[in-house]
Amino acid sequence: MHRTVSQLALGAFLAALVAGCATSPKPTQDIHEVMETGFKGKESLSARITGGNGSAADHQTMVGLTYQLTLNKPPMGDLASWTEKTTALHAAAKALAANQPMALDGWKAAVNCKACHSVHKPD
Ligand code: HEC
Repeated sequence: MHRTVSQLALGAFLAALVAGCATSPKPTQDIHEVMETGFKGKESLSARITGGNGSAADHQTMVGLTYQLTLNKPPMGDLASWTEKTTALHAAAKALAANQPMALDGWKAAVNCKACHSVHKPD
């Protein structure tokens, strides 16, 4: 009897867990804010990082900003393409934050403004 009850409780817990995972988290910053905060201009956070001058704190901030990108939906273009690009960018930022070898090369390849804007940024 006792066992049945705990199994039921476990089942309910697992069901709740699965339901919780199914609802994806909402972004706290939209794409516009992320671009303004981290990408816009020659002195931006992303420019500093791409130039090899990003500090550990810069890399950490970029992990957060690129995560926000992955949670957003693009105003234009295919969601699959957006997910692919933003996930790659987020992974590249995480590699930098973790001091992985070749991380900067990976970042440079992923942070292609034009490749993303041409598909996902409205005029
Ligand atoms: C993964 C895709 C992606 C990458 C990479 C990207 N951007 Fe953007 N960017 C966007 C999208 C989408 C918008 C349009 C946002 C909107 O209109 O809601 C945008 C808008 C902008 C804007 C317009 C101003 C604004 O706040 O909306 C600027 C400036 C900008 N990006 C700069 C850059 C620069 C510089 C880089 C490269 C160092 C870059 N972006 C890389 C997706 C990207």
